[in-house]
Amino acid sequence: KRVVVLVSGSGSNLQALLDASADSAYGVEIVAVGADRPGTYGVERAEKAGVPGFVCRVGDYETREEWDEALTDTIASYEPDLVVSAGFLKLFGQRLLKAFEGRAVNTHNSLLPAFPGMHGPRDAFNSGVKLAGATLFICDPGVDTGPIIAQTAVPVLDDDTVETLTERIKEAERVQLVECVGRMMREGWTVTGRRVTFG
Ligand code: GRF
Repeated sequence: KRVVVLVSGSGSNLQALLDASADSAYGVEIVAVGADRPGTYGVERAEKAGVPGFVCRVGDYETREEWDEALTDTIASYEPDLVVSAGFLKLFGQRLLKAFEGRAVNTHNSLLPAFPGMHGPRDAFNSGVKLAGATLFICDPGVDTGPIIAQTAVPVLDDDTVETLTERIKEAERVQLVECVGRMMREGWTVTGRRVTFG
């Protein structure tokens, strides 16, 4: 099965997928990695692994719609079964959402619907919750609002800082992402309203 991954930053989630896909039993080939900005470590990681990388910048287009169209066409040219947004810091446009409806997923570093947005771990830490975690969900037009595929909780410990909590969440997030992408590609999945089930 073919997977395109989108990144904006360091790409540690991407690296976990690249590592897993090195084993053919995992059943996933990362066919391309795209970024919304040049110079990401994520695209560098892809190229090191022999996977083609591409950059599609909003600023290179007259309108956001044109960017959405170009990004969609580039992704589509790799004929993916699944699009994984892994730390991609742009909201998907309408065309992309439509072209890959139910086949584009995003990973977020909080237990949604709590703490959407850019600062999940910090917001969780400051709120005083005792459980934090990561959520994998199907992309929809909102910010971190789509149907939930899986969640993993981690404890917030008394001696945590935002940094140590963030690291614990990211570890759990990577494991969850690798497991779920593998299952989705091997077993398939069904979206019924807000509910997502494997198989
Ligand atoms: C992830 O924790 C994701 O939830 C958040 O940004 C982080 C991306 O990390 N939106 P990386 O680029 O995969 O290392």
